[in-house]
Amino acid sequence: MLTLKDNKNKENNKKNGNNRPKLIIKGGKALKGVIAANGAKNAALPIMAASILASGKICLQKVPDISDVEHMARILQFMGAEVQYNGDGCFIVDTSNFSKTRAPYKLVKKLNASFDITGAMVARFGEAHVPLPGGCVIGTRAVDMHLEGFRALGCEVEQEPGGFISVKARKLVGGRVHFRRTSVGATKNVMMAAVLARGKTILENVAREPEVIDLANFLNCCGAGITGHGTGRIEIQGVRKLYPDIEYEIIPDRIESATYLLAGAITGGEVTVRNAEPEYLKTFLRKMRKAGQDIKIGNDYIRITGVKPIQSVGAIITEPYPGFPTDLQPPMTALLSLSNGTTLVKEKIFNMRFSYIDELRRMGADFQMDGNTVIVRGVERLLGAPVEAPDIRAGGALILAALSAEGKSEVYGLNFIDRGYEKIEEKLREIGADIERVG
Ligand code: UD1
Repeated sequence: MLTLKDNKNKENNKKNGNNRPKLIIKGGKALKGVIAANGAKNAALPIMAASILASGKICLQKVPDISDVEHMARILQFMGAEVQYNGDGCFIVDTSNFSKTRAPYKLVKKLNASFDITGAMVARFGEAHVPLPGGCVIGTRAVDMHLEGFRALGCEVEQEPGGFISVKARKLVGGRVHFRRTSVGATKNVMMAAVLARGKTILENVAREPEVIDLANFLNCCGAGITGHGTGRIEIQGVRKLYPDIEYEIIPDRIESATYLLAGAITGGEVTVRNAEPEYLKTFLRKMRKAGQDIKIGNDYIRITGVKPIQSVGAIITEPYPGFPTDLQPPMTALLSLSNGTTLVKEKIFNMRFSYIDELRRMGADFQMDGNTVIVRGVERLLGAPVEAPDIRAGGALILAALSAEGKSEVYGLNFIDRGYEKIEEKLREIGADIERVG
């Protein structure tokens, strides 16, 4: 039975009529203290999808309390799984009675990661009918490489009326796939299909993100035969079945960790993020040191002491891991908007990831934009303003800017921010931010 937490905020919104939820932030306070990062959203969602593969009960720990997790839980529940999640990090799912092979459009359209269920469903049931994830505010979200991978494993792939993709296979057989570009989503989805295929599958030019490694480690804990994860070539020796009854802890969220470190830097404070994994953040931390920030790495924490003036860093170019993460491009740009020089920021993963730039301009930031490149010309101060978050990480960027700005800001678009940041206002308040959720 689903026992998702009560969403008190939603109830409050209804009571308050048409009040749009927003964060009110009075900026200019140096943040000081300790924040604990939770498990990674981008690992938790595909691992929840992978639970379909092992018919039975699985317990996941450190699952973040965010709305994307709630939506994935609802999709699994709709398909017949029993789900227990109270927002306390412990997610229990039993997929013994998972029976449907057609995913619900209304739920799937809420998160791109929902297409991750396709590989697992076709592997367990021989068919999956999943709506295309559709356009996304940060750029086009093609799935052609996912589908090429399924075909290489012997699947028949067809577009169905209503925007559904049908993937069917009487028997999955191991195959060889060379992805034409690095895709986290395609790597995860095809890997999930291949674990139950007959024989060996070789995936080349795969994503090396820590979240891909975490998914492979989870699958191996259930009995899969995956090797090479974390390199550009993954080999999967198909097995007859995966075994449930395991407990698995999700890796720390590197994007959440970095966002709080940036909060320390941008406010000139001192913030320690516990349960942070420095290994996952090497490229980011290198840039932060270049920006003049003081970083200390301990056993299970990263501490930042903000140093003014923030130095410009030459260039930030987003690339697949271990390059600079696309998810940190907006928050990093917020920091650099207060630097003492000029930085070139180039977005190479998504084609529409600068929609937050105009909001930062309204706070006084200075940018020159040309296609997927932005020249950031640092200014001395930002001024509070009402701003609208167009996506999750842009929301992170606007909150950071508001924390450093003079005066009051109102940040709207919490439906995006809540998709990826767990209790962000509570965590920031604990380290001294003047931040309040209203509406
Ligand atoms: C991407 C990021 C990931 C980040 C996540 C959430 C990369 C490589 N991936 O993963 O680190 O955590 O967003 O913001 O940085 N593409 C195709 N065809 C496909 C699949 C993808 O053309 O079949 C394209 C996408 O349109 C995109 C690029 O490849 O431009 C990377 O996509 P992908 O890595 O699959 O996206 P996510 O899995 O969302």
